[in-house]
Amino acid sequence: MGGLFWNKIFAAVLATALVVFGIKELSHKFIHSEQPETPGFAVVIENTSSDTAVAEIIKEVSLAELLSGASASSGERIAKKCTACHTFEKDGGNKIGPALWNVIGRDAAAADGFKYSSALSASGLNWSFENLNLFLKKPKELVPGTSMSFMGLKKAKDRANFLLWLREKSDAPMSLPAFAAPVVEAAGDMLDEVTEQASSAVEATGDGVAEVLEKAADMTTVPTSANE
Ligand code: HEC
Repeated sequence: MGGLFWNKIFAAVLATALVVFGIKELSHKFIHSEQPETPGFAVVIENTSSDTAVAEIIKEVSLAELLSGASASSGERIAKKCTACHTFEKDGGNKIGPALWNVIGRDAAAADGFKYSSALSASGLNWSFENLNLFLKKPKELVPGTSMSFMGLKKAKDRANFLLWLREKSDAPMSLPAFAAPVVEAAGDMLDEVTEQASSAVEATGDGVAEVLEKAADMTTVPTSANE
């Protein structure tokens, strides 16, 4: 009996040591495997979907910002590059290119009586400020196969000035894109994501602790059962 008593004491001490060691070891392992490599919110940076979202927003914001500082009278000069092929007046009609009155906000390839390329007809585009900006920068890049043979307007400022002028060529000029809204929206999205990441990290920590405790329980049973 005496031997068994000391065995039990020994087992208890050993178990305690193992538990302490186990917790240390496991938490060590846990910290290394579950924590992000880079401290802080590297998770957000690693996420490619939010990366592209941010890039989109920056693009939209910069166009909106350019438009807010654009000059319609400077834009009128740019329009001269288009008038060989397009009309901008109400009921101006089609020329080599389609009539462009009311074009902002209109679906692509929707001017009455104009024979569009199949590329533009199938594009499914709507002429938002952003899409027009891309089209005018390099028509063949946004719509490969378009029959509009025009090199494009290289300068972002020229495009913004022109778009501001073009906006007036409409029965109901579309409101300029606001640049505060997308930023606020993006901030909200990012906050959601961070919160989600944080709560899953907390969950993982909980799992880790449960695992340590389970392991500890296992270890305490090993020496005693070995003695039976
Ligand atoms: C050499 C002739 C030519 C010039 C110059 C030209 N375009 Fe075009 N444009 C076209 C043709 C042709 C199309 C039809 C394209 C197609 O069907 O793929 C077109 C289509 C368009 C469209 C699409 C319209 C719609 O109904 O979907 C826009 C917008 C446009 N042009 C704007 C401009 C602007 C702005 C300029 C001047 C900066 C310009 N274009 C210069 C020939 C021209």
